[in-house]
Amino acid sequence: MKHAISDEALAQIFLEARTYNGWLDKPVTDEQLRQVYDVMKWGPTSANGSPGRFVFVRSPEVKERLRPALSSGNVEKTMAAPVTVIVAYDLQFYEKLPQLFPHKPAMRDLYASNAQLAEETARRNSSLQGAYLIIAARALGLDCGPMSGFDNAKLDEEFFSDGVVRSNFLCNIGYGDPASFTTRLPRFEFHDVCTLL
Ligand SMILES: Cc1cc2nc3c(=O)[nH]c(=O)nc-3n(C[C@H](O)[C@H](O)[C@H](O)COP(=O)(O)O)c2cc1C
Repeated sequence: MKHAISDEALAQIFLEARTYNGWLDKPVTDEQLRQVYDVMKWGPTSANGSPGRFVFVRSPEVKERLRPALSSGNVEKTMAAPVTVIVAYDLQFYEKLPQLFPHKPAMRDLYASNAQLAEETARRNSSLQGAYLIIAARALGLDCGPMSGFDNAKLDEEFFSDGVVRSNFLCNIGYGDPASFTTRLPRFEFHDVCTLL
């Protein structure tokens, strides 16, 4: 029997979860990153295509390879974060559909024959998967700091030179330093942006 999750869980995932700009000096283990992936992978994607590809950057050496692509405001926090994940997407995700969506072989051909549809589908669903990653990380007690302030082409040249995988956004992961954020910004009310028809 399903039931609403606890107020405490809701607070941790949404109501009190913040975007962090500073990080406590506390490591994140590879095992935790595997757990985050093993939770987020169950989030839904179009035709179960799972186009998201995730590069977890942990070492200072590889962080330095990110640096030239980052906008100036994102450098310090990215260098300080225990992990920065590159949320990317595979333009040829459809080649895995025979494994991921075996009951409908026509779906592979639909995407394989329409590069624009494949790109749009890969980008949309990797964005969703990036959101699942943020929620999964929070559910497992970690904090996140997503970022789109970087030069995608420059980063792709450095990390995805084959041209088949493209970056979507970056997300720092760690234990957030509460001293690093300011007053929470407002959100729209239901009546501002929602319509009941
Ligand atoms: C896709 C995405 C891209 C973002 N890009 C940046 C960025 O480049 N630099 C930055 O400082 N914050 C960035 N942010 C953080 C947002 O400004 C922040 O999540 C928002 O103001 C809500 O803050 P809160 O979670 O603390 O309420 C980004 C957030 C998202 C989801």
